[in-house]
Amino acid sequence: MRRAYVWKTKFRARDRLNKYIFSRAQMSLNLVFQNVLYLIKQIEKNMKKTTVQAGSDIAFVKYWGKKDKILRLPSNGSISMILDSLQSKTTVEFLPNLAKDEIIIGGEVEEGEASRAIKHLDRIRTLAKEKGLIDKDIFAKVVSENNFPKSTGLSSSGSGFAALTMAATKAIGLDLSEKELSILARQGSGSACRCVCGGFVEWLDGETSEESYAQSFAKSEDFDIRDLVAIVSEDKKNLSSSDGHDLAESSLFFKARQEKIDTKLAAVKRAILQKDFETLGEIVEAEALEFHSILLTSQPTILLFYPGTIEVMQAVRQLRKTGVPVYFTINTGFNVHILTLPQYEKQVAAVLQNLPSVQKIIISGAGNQPEYLEKHLF
Ligand code: PMV
Repeated sequence: MRRAYVWKTKFRARDRLNKYIFSRAQMSLNLVFQNVLYLIKQIEKNMKKTTVQAGSDIAFVKYWGKKDKILRLPSNGSISMILDSLQSKTTVEFLPNLAKDEIIIGGEVEEGEASRAIKHLDRIRTLAKEKGLIDKDIFAKVVSENNFPKSTGLSSSGSGFAALTMAATKAIGLDLSEKELSILARQGSGSACRCVCGGFVEWLDGETSEESYAQSFAKSEDFDIRDLVAIVSEDKKNLSSSDGHDLAESSLFFKARQEKIDTKLAAVKRAILQKDFETLGEIVEAEALEFHSILLTSQPTILLFYPGTIEVMQAVRQLRKTGVPVYFTINTGFNVHILTLPQYEKQVAAVLQNLPSVQKIIISGAGNQPEYLEKHLF
C-alpha cells in the first residue's frame, strides 16, 4: 500500500517535470520562430532586388591623374555629356543564404572586374552597417550587361559602376542623395561619379572625399547635340585607365596641362550654357589631342591609336573643311567619338560608314539620369 503511494507520487512529480520542460521548450521555440519571422520581415522591408540602367558618358574635359589614389580624388575637374545610347544595366539582390558575392558581367564571371565590384559592395555594406540596416555581412548576386563593347575605351566602367552603386544601395535599403551616390560611385570608378547624374555634368575635383562629386549644370534637352561613336575595333584595350592615371604625372606636359585646366573647364561650361557648338567642338578636339600627348609622353609611353583611329580623325577634319560642324574626341582607346549637330547627323554617319576601318556607328544624344527598372536581369 505504502509502496504504491510512493510510486504514484514519484510518477506525478515526473509528469509535472515533463510538462514543465515541454512548455518551456515550446516557449523558446515560439520565441525563436518569432525572431526569425521578425528578421525576415526586416530584410523584406529594406532589401529588395533592384535594377538600374545608367548611360555612359563622353568627357569633354578629361579626368586624367589622381591626387589621392585610394579615394580616387582626381588631379583636375572634368566635364562630360551623358550618352543616351550607351547603356549598362545591373540587377542586384542581397540574399541571406549566399556565402559570398556572385558577380556576372556580360554573361561571364571575370575575376578582375568581379573583385573591383566586390570591393565596391564592401563599401556599401560598411555604409549599411553604419546606418544600422545590417549588423553582419550579407552577400549579393549581381548581374550586369552593357549594350556596347566594354574595355574598348567607351567608359563602360563609368556607366557600370554608376548602375552598380545605385542598384546595390537601394537593394540593401539605403536611401542616398545624388551627391552621396556620386561620392560613393567615384570610389568604384572615377567617371562613374558623373554617370549617376543626367545631361551635362561637372565633376568638382575637391580636396576631400566629401568635396569630390559630380553635378549636372545643364539638362539633356538644353543643348541638342549628337555623339557618334565610330567603332574601329572591339579589341580589349591593353591599358586599364587605373594604370594610366598612375602614369599621368610622369609626362613632361602634365604640369602645363594642370596650369590651364580651370580656364578650359570654364570655357567648356560657358560654351554649353550658351549653346555655342563651334567653340565647344574646337576646345573638345584640342583637349583630346592634349590628353593623348600626355599619354604619348608618359613613362613608359602609351600609344593607343590604331590606323583606323587616325583615318576617322582625318575624315572628321576633312568634312569640317567643307563647312560641316563636326569634331572628334577620344578616351583611353582607339574608338572615336564624333560630335555634331542633329541636322548633320545623317551626313556625318554616311561619311563615317564609308571609311574602310569603321565597323559600326553608335549614335547618342545627351542622356538623362539613370533609371530604376521594374524588369530584372534574373
Ligand atoms: O573613370 P576611369 O578611371 O575609367 O577614367 C576615365 C578616363 C577618361 O575616360 C580618359 C577621361 C574621363 O574623364 O572620362
